[in-house]
Amino acid sequence: MRIIQNYVRDLLSSAIAKCSTAEIVQEFAKHPNVSVAKPKFGDYQWNDALSLFKLAKDSLTVGSPKELAELVKENIEKTAFSSVNVSPQGFLTFVFSKEWIEEEIKSLAINGVKPSKLLNGVKVGIDFSSPNIAKEMHVGHLRSTIIGDSIARILEFHGYEVFRINHLGDWGTQFGMLIEYMYEKYPDFLTSMPSISDLTKFYKEAKLRMDTDEEFKKKSRSRVVKLQSGDKDSRMVWKVICDLSMEAFNEIYKRLDIKFEVYGESFYNDFIPDVVKELKEKGIAEDSQGAIVVFTDVSPAPLMLVKSDGGYGYDTTDMACIRYRIQELKCDWVIYVTDVGQAEHFAKIFKAARDAGWADHENKRVRLDHVGFGMILNDFGEKFKTRSGETVKLVDLLDVAVERASAELEKRLQNQTEDDLDAQSDLKGVSETLGYGAVKYYDLNRSILSNYKFSFDSMLDPRGNTAVYLLYAYARICAIFRKSGINFEELDISALSVSHTTEIALAKCILKFPAVLDTILKDLAVNRLTEYLYDISCQFSAFYTQCKVVGDSEQNSRLILCHCTRMIMKTCFNLIGIKPLERI
Ligand code: ARG
Repeated sequence: MRIIQNYVRDLLSSAIAKCSTAEIVQEFAKHPNVSVAKPKFGDYQWNDALSLFKLAKDSLTVGSPKELAELVKENIEKTAFSSVNVSPQGFLTFVFSKEWIEEEIKSLAINGVKPSKLLNGVKVGIDFSSPNIAKEMHVGHLRSTIIGDSIARILEFHGYEVFRINHLGDWGTQFGMLIEYMYEKYPDFLTSMPSISDLTKFYKEAKLRMDTDEEFKKKSRSRVVKLQSGDKDSRMVWKVICDLSMEAFNEIYKRLDIKFEVYGESFYNDFIPDVVKELKEKGIAEDSQGAIVVFTDVSPAPLMLVKSDGGYGYDTTDMACIRYRIQELKCDWVIYVTDVGQAEHFAKIFKAARDAGWADHENKRVRLDHVGFGMILNDFGEKFKTRSGETVKLVDLLDVAVERASAELEKRLQNQTEDDLDAQSDLKGVSETLGYGAVKYYDLNRSILSNYKFSFDSMLDPRGNTAVYLLYAYARICAIFRKSGINFEELDISALSVSHTTEIALAKCILKFPAVLDTILKDLAVNRLTEYLYDISCQFSAFYTQCKVVGDSEQNSRLILCHCTRMIMKTCFNLIGIKPLERI
């Protein structure tokens, strides 16, 4: 599908170029700005007649911005428009013609939903989810998982070669205390490894020891260094703990249908000495009070490359990791999805990577993005915790979402129609789709940086802006088709005609889809997609309320619109990781 705004821009571009052969005009013609117009004025508009006139006055034959706009209007290829208007200030507004809209919709109906461009071969690494071993995966990681997965899906849709990377926190300082505590609690663990069923409890006990016993704390610190330098026994305990923790994480990933490869922090350990050496040789890293640090112009606080006890930390791993992603994975673009609290950390890492010459080459600049998101809060505006003050377990949260979705579904099925019976036969599956879908949508559907309050009620509200509402809307379209008894293949696409205002509005909304994705590729704000999904489903409702479909003389045309809406909605659902259902 094409981005219609770009289509208008291209038409404008040639029209402006025809206004004068002067270089200044030709240059201006290359990138005209097209913006979305207020609906009462038109579809798109061009506001730059004034600036072009000021710039190129001497090389133009016209005497005012308005006359210049008139000239552009004269030069523009008009087949797509029912009207092109010039305002007294010289603003040019365009209204698409009904025939043009029909042709675009026909082509969509025939060709299906395709991305506006294919970027095959462009490699993107996306670092998301990345929970920490032995700790509970909390709601913050849930946000990273959901947002990261959706970005990955959007990139994959455009043909990018995507490395979905789980940068598992499997190398942090927490291992020092965990291994030390293993020695203390199970001194025979080397001969018979205990089965630790409750890792969280084990973690808490170790943490308590760490916080209350100086000696234990010291031993834990040197244990980290031992682990990092390859001590065999430490490694063994480390592996047992990692496997155990990963099992629990995998359960969540499976439920949410999230895929990635694990390149945990530990993976980069072997590269670290060389990275430190390179950064020192390039004069980017320097000695400071027994440690090795990297200063950037991002903040006065440096990155800590090697601590004074010789240990490596989060910063060190991230430096080794970014070099690996650029030089070994050959990424053209690397994206990190974490809470916004880490914005400065990544700004420093990106700057240091550029200073080291890793990210900028003669003809290529590696794109580096940090997508930072806000916190999830409880009803009182505090960090989302359970009543006893613990972080909410993700598994519990997903369970509650599904339970609630199931209760709501059962209520709905009491007023069942025959069509709904199918859903009842798979109550569990449908409840899971609704429950997990609701969690994902609720999370994606807000501007990324803002904190938001978590509420099961608003998340599952079948009348609100929720996945539940949208999934019902989608299922309704499927039901319309079933009721008509007509398959899409039987429709006469060439006879499409859109004339009712709600039909035109819906068709225009359908055609906006590629532009939404294109903007997301630029700013990675996935909430644009959920907003669009809501918008199209509202446009559909308006159309469906006003226009009879089944049994109407316009049935053929209207079913084509239904079909296109369904295809676009289905694609949107796929891109946000929600399974659309044909019947609910
Ligand atoms: N494990 C980290 C956390 O829980 C997130 C890791 C993000 N990725 C990275 N390359 N630093 O906050």
